[in-house]
Amino acid sequence: MEVKLETLCEAETEELGMRIGEQLFPGAVIYLDGELGAGKTVFARGIARGIGVNTPITSPTFILLQQHQGQLPFYHFDLYRLDHEDDLYEIGLDECLDGKGVSLIEWAGKFSEYLHWPALSVTIKNLGADRRQILLRAEEEPYLQIVQGLTTGR
Ligand SMILES: Nc1ncnc2c1ncn2[C@@H]1O[C@H](COP(=O)(O)OP(=O)(O)OP(=O)(O)O)[C@@H](O)[C@H]1O
Ligand SMILES: [Mg+2]
Repeated sequence: MEVKLETLCEAETEELGMRIGEQLFPGAVIYLDGELGAGKTVFARGIARGIGVNTPITSPTFILLQQHQGQLPFYHFDLYRLDHEDDLYEIGLDECLDGKGVSLIEWAGKFSEYLHWPALSVTIKNLGADRRQILLRAEEEPYLQIVQGLTTGR
């Protein structure tokens, strides 16, 4: 299932992330893509708020994994600077994704062959000025239900 939404400002993207974050659960995985400055970190901040993380969410590209604690652990990956798939294991990606926290992976598309976990996939596209298209894709439950809920406004 695929749903396209549009946001008109940073706050709307964060709000959307938060609505999704509130529905996440131990072991949830989000793959997040979009060009530089699309709004991935803004969306990630929303997800973090939704799971009750109060610490600042930033994305210095040289930090590959930042861990936060909300109602659940939050593992925030940024693979922009990662060159080799072997390094995915170095940074402990599989332990995090198999764990009890929420994992969010910016630039997941770079390593899509190696990311086989069921997930919610989010792709953000800059439509000019402050408009962003947010494409949400889910193939299995409970992600399908989350995406569905966003379209019906529940
Ligand atoms: N509708 C919108 N949604 C999200 N961000 C927006 C929107 N409109 C404008 N912006 C601006 O776009 C920028 C998005 O920055 P952000 O760091 O989230 O991008 P990113 O995709 O994480 O980039 P990078 O790949 O460099 O880490 C911010 O400056 C934000 O204020
Ligand atoms: Mg970022």
